[in-house]
Amino acid sequence: MHLTATTQFGLEELLADELYDLGADITHVGSRAVEFIGDHRLLYEVALWSRLSIRLLRPFAAFYAADEKALYREVSRIDWQDFIGHGQTFAITPVVNRSTFEHSLFVAQLTKDAIVDQFRARTGERPSIDTRNPDIRLHLRMTENEVILSLDAAGDSLHRRGYRQHTNEAPLNEVLAAGLVLLSGWDGKQPLIDPLCGSATILTEAGLMCQRIAPGLFHQGKFGFENWYDFDPKLWEQVREEAKAQRLEEPQAYLAGSDLDPKVIDMAAANITAAGLEDCVRLSVRDVKDAAAPAKEAPGIVLTNPPYGERIGEGAQMAALYKTIGDTLKTGFQGYNACIFTGNLEAAKSIGLKPARRIPLFNGPIDCRLLKYELYRGSKREPKPAEGPAQN
Ligand SMILES: C[S@@+](CC[C@H](N)C(=O)[O-])C[C@H]1O[C@@H](n2cnc3c(N)ncnc32)[C@H](O)[C@@H]1O
Repeated sequence: MHLTATTQFGLEELLADELYDLGADITHVGSRAVEFIGDHRLLYEVALWSRLSIRLLRPFAAFYAADEKALYREVSRIDWQDFIGHGQTFAITPVVNRSTFEHSLFVAQLTKDAIVDQFRARTGERPSIDTRNPDIRLHLRMTENEVILSLDAAGDSLHRRGYRQHTNEAPLNEVLAAGLVLLSGWDGKQPLIDPLCGSATILTEAGLMCQRIAPGLFHQGKFGFENWYDFDPKLWEQVREEAKAQRLEEPQAYLAGSDLDPKVIDMAAANITAAGLEDCVRLSVRDVKDAAAPAKEAPGIVLTNPPYGERIGEGAQMAALYKTIGDTLKTGFQGYNACIFTGNLEAAKSIGLKPARRIPLFNGPIDCRLLKYELYRGSKREPKPAEGPAQN
């Protein structure tokens, strides 16, 4: 089947690599989406193992709709009993861009009418709409009046892993956190430290990776494909059991997080426990100015997402915080690679180090960068032998 996985801007190539490693035949890498071909086993494996997919779609119809009549007519041409079973509820998620239709909800409404009218005409019954928890979630994308209709395989968005019990003010979305871990170049064995860890999303995603835990095992409720006409429950059970068996119990890497706020550390601890990683991630309450590399470990990666200070008047405070972060990196993490993910590029100048790379990404609507720094070890000068008085 043809499938499309969607992701965040900047993570497309990583997603294509991830899908390829799972066995997908990649057909197109686009903006925030990767198209690929695979069978049912692959679909189930992607749903369980993909760390970078947000939605997983199975397109089944494509057409041009110049106007309302054309949209209604083209939707009516599809045999909807192939997709929506007797007694099943459905919902439509519309995404409309650069089209003569201005309102996506209107497009969804018209599509829904065409589907319901067809059922009523053919069976005398009409399927119900359930926008919160539908059996069949349809995805409608219209770009320049070209429509693609897909079945949504995920149901609830895949980034909502379900391990998150509590969140602080600005938690990272799990897909973005997983993307940051992969972009940091962490090899899954080195120490990974987040000295402003908040609810510890970065460390949790890193822990899931190195302990080979499938993120889809935390998905809340059913996946969309469990209600599809061609769902294979035996194969699904088998793929799930195989995924559970992959898990490594022995901690694979030194993962540590700290934060100034004790309440936030309590939340982080609850999330880490819910993800089954309590033996893998160390947490402490600490100001970033006191953070330092663990003494007995080889150098690794610092990866962190400091506050951006979006409120007016926070400029000086942010400059001071980013300066402290820079000083800590220089003195406490020599030999490490550091990655700072921020939407405050002005404050980032106060880090006082020259980034080796700046990777553009978004955190929701905020234009951000992942700034990568190499923290060389200061050249240790051999102490000069003490010079004695000149001897004649
Ligand atoms: C943007 S949040 C991090 C969010 C985190 N990535 C997550 O997914 O939950 C920034 C964190 O920095 C912490 N913080 C602010 N100043 C700090 C300091 N001086 N030392 C340590 N942590 C600090 C805040 O308490 C907050 O939890």
